[in-house]
Amino acid sequence: MSTPLKLAIIVGSVREGRFGPVVARWFAEQVDDRFTVDLVDLADYDVPTALPAVPPALDPNPERPAGMAGLSERLAAADAFVVVTPDYNRSVPASLKSVIDWHYTQWDAKAIGFVGYSGATGGVLAIEHLRQVFGELNAHTVRNYVSFPRYYLLFDEQGGLREPETFAEAAAALLDQLHWWTTALVAARAKAFAA
Ligand SMILES: Cc1cc2nc3c(=O)[nH]c(=O)nc-3n(C[C@H](O)[C@H](O)[C@H](O)COP(=O)(O)O)c2cc1C
Repeated sequence: MSTPLKLAIIVGSVREGRFGPVVARWFAEQVDDRFTVDLVDLADYDVPTALPAVPPALDPNPERPAGMAGLSERLAAADAFVVVTPDYNRSVPASLKSVIDWHYTQWDAKAIGFVGYSGATGGVLAIEHLRQVFGELNAHTVRNYVSFPRYYLLFDEQGGLREPETFAEAAAALLDQLHWWTTALVAARAKAFAA
């Protein structure tokens, strides 16, 4: 058995009464022993929307405020990410976008999967925007994803899925792709980049 890869599951919404942690916990339960899980809840941090004077692409380690202490290290330690996101006005919650923009090397050449939830749009509009964003950061987003449109009809009051099989299959397919890409990218990152 090879060493498990480090997967950070990011809870992207931070508002009071949010549903994101329920979805993230469900996904964490789907992860098998190919990965170790670090559940990164952005509500545990205070991330300013005002970014540093110099973009992280030029200065990858800017001085970060005390409210972000430990966050960058957790992102840096991850081999792969699964981003759990709702749609906010057909796009990404600002809390999530800010965290992405505060970082650069932490995403570089890593594999990223998505779990979306929302009203009718099920998080897929945010997911599609995130694919563009992570492309700019030289991350690889995997094709398969999990989406919960009208999540409030799909989950019960205890946070369990009423009909778990289809979603468990979608999560397994996502994890298979994520594992393949993460394995490839961990090996590739170990070599110097030669353009
Ligand atoms: C500012 C805002 C914008 C939203 N925009 C959409 C949307 O474009 N499409 C959709 O299906 N649901 C939309 N919703 C509904 C959210 O997806 C739903 O409230 C979900 O619970 C939000 O995730 P959270 O509870 O983790 O914050 C929106 C909710 C908020 C607060």
